[in-house]
Order: sequence, then structure tokens, then C-alpha cells
Amino acid sequence: MTKKYQIAVVPGDGTGPEVVAEGIKALDAASARHGFELQYTPYAIGGEHYKKTGEILPDHVIETLSKADAIFLGAIGHPDVKPGILEKGILLKLRFTLDQYINLRPVKLYEGVSTPLKNKTAKDIDFVVVRENSEGLYAGAGGSLKRGTPDEVAIQDSINTRKGVERCIRYAFEYCRKRNKRKKLTLCGKTNVLTYAFDLWERAFNEVATEYPDIETDYAHVDAICMWMIKNPEWFDVIVTDNMFGDIITDLGAMIQGGMGIAAGGNINPGGVSMFEPIGGSAPRYTGKGVINPIAAILSGQLLLETIGEPDAAAAIESAVKKVLRDDIKDVAAGKMGYTTSELGDLIATYIKDGTGV
Ligand code: IPM
Ligand code: MN
Repeated sequence: MTKKYQIAVVPGDGTGPEVVAEGIKALDAASARHGFELQYTPYAIGGEHYKKTGEILPDHVIETLSKADAIFLGAIGHPDVKPGILEKGILLKLRFTLDQYINLRPVKLYEGVSTPLKNKTAKDIDFVVVRENSEGLYAGAGGSLKRGTPDEVAIQDSINTRKGVERCIRYAFEYCRKRNKRKKLTLCGKTNVLTYAFDLWERAFNEVATEYPDIETDYAHVDAICMWMIKNPEWFDVIVTDNMFGDIITDLGAMIQGGMGIAAGGNINPGGVSMFEPIGGSAPRYTGKGVINPIAAILSGQLLLETIGEPDAAAAIESAVKKVLRDDIKDVAAGKMGYTTSELGDLIATYIKDGTGV
């Protein structure tokens, strides 16, 4: 019997629906070629839906999402909705409730894509950031007093639990072991200033490291990591870090790999349901124009297939994307691709179907 997976689809806002449609073309081409079936259920969640109905993310929707094999998300964010409402009410709520404690973000410069880094090529930029995705400054701990007065006090605490930190570090070691032959894991922290939080991270890291003698370990402060990512990106294989630092360094990563148009990410619960999204957001100014690059969403589909256990189909998506980037597309930036969003999606799907580039 053909294997079937249930995929919950949240197209969301802005260019989300456009890129999700192309992601689905690639997923369908890959599943057809590799002999399994994907069944999609769409969910109307996002800024548009919130504006129309006042509803953000009801518990019964989370309940059904939690039963899917994976979630495929376009983008959440609306120019008319106050910052924080949708981010916290949808994106972070899903990450937290579904305990997607890893945010996996590959930073890979493909051949044919230009990087702003002088003298760096595809062989120099190929690493993955494992970002803790359920704690840290994102936990929402803190509060404010006397808001709006000259005596205002605002506190935003970073929550780091031994359990939360250790499971993230363990995931990073396991991932590093499987990824390739380099086997180097770098902890990104700030042990010289954040002496409570990163003391815990460092001890957990060093303790877990004793179980992975085959993996070389390294440590760098987050500010230094920003420097090295620009100057010597070839030093990195896997970087593990907390939620806030991971958020920041992965935007830097997206830029050195060629831009938001190709930056993919996965919110992963290794024992539950994971959610995959292009990391670029809803890009309101490009919405509806057919100019947005769908590759970030398509590569998120690759991560989805890897995570649900279809590595060959995942590899087929990456091969097709590689070919398009090397041979076809002019530029990865929105509007400069030489193709519309859906033409590019069609081309990639055709390559996947034909096995081109494999
Ligand atoms: C990301 C985004 C989110 C984050 C925002 C939209 C809440 O920037 O996925 O990196 O900070 O995690
Ligand atoms: Mn971010």
C-alpha cells in the first residue's frame, strides 16, 4: 500500500499563499516520483483571517494541526495588525504548543547564487544553525511597571532550563554526526557577559560532548560568530545557540547565502509534529505580483520530506533547485529571476519529475 502523509497547510499572509502553491508543486512531483502520497488540508490562519473574524488561533485548530504528519507554512504577518499579535498569537504559539524545540536553518550558498561576501563560493558557505526554539528571551517571561511614566521599568527574562538546553544540544550533536564528514559543532553564546544563562549552556554542551568523541567542538561568542560568518564562513559545520541569538545570526546567514528568497527553515519536534516555513516573512510589497522567489518555500519542502522520513524525495527537490540556480535563474531576488513565481515552480517540478539534476 502506498504510504500516505497528512500535511496541514497554512498559506498565511502576503506572499505566503503564492510560495506555498509552488512548494506543493515540488512536493507533489517528489512524492509521485518516489512512490508516496501527500494529502493536504488547508487552514485559514493569519492576519487576513484575524482581520475578518477576530480569531487568531483557536485551540481546536491547534488540536487538529497536532494530528498532522507535518505542517507547511507560508508566512504570518500583516501590515495592518500591530506587531506582536500574530507573531506571538500564531507563530510562537504553534512552536511552543507543539513543542517544536528546534529551529533548523541551513545556510548554504548554491552554485550560481551570488553572495555579498567577496571571494567566497559555494564550497565556503555550507553550515546549519540549530536554534533553540522554545525558551530563552522568547518565553515571554517578564513584565513592565509604571508603563508610560518616567519611572517605567521593563523586564524581559531569558528562560533557560537544563532540560530545554540539553535536548537542543543533544539534537545538534546527533544532527552533526549525521550531516557530513566534517563533524564540527560550535556553541554560540555569550559566556563573558550572560554568565548565568550561558554557564548552563556551556556546561551542558561540554557534558554532552563527552558522549560524542567523534565530533570536534568549538565555542564562540555571538558577536564573534557574526564576524566569522562574514570573514570565515567555511569554519562552520553546525552551530547550536539559544533562541534570540539564533534568530539574529540566521538572518545574517540568509544574506550570505544569497537572500531571503532561498532561506528555508524547519520548526522541529523530533517526537511530534514539525512545521516548515520559508524564513522571509510575508513580503507585503511583493504580494500578488507573481515576482516572489518560491525557492525558500520549496527548500522548506525539502526539509519537510527529510523530517518525515523521505530522504530520497527530499534530495530530488534539492537537486532540481540546484540545477535551476546554476543554469536557469538570473538572480534570486524578487522580480529579477527572469521567471514568474509560478513559472519557476513549474520548472522545478518538471526537473523533479524528470529526475533532472540528480
Ligand atoms: C523568525 C521570525 C520570528 C522569530 C518572528 C516573526 C516572531 O523572525 O522565524 O525568525 O523571531 O522567531
Ligand atoms: Mn527571525
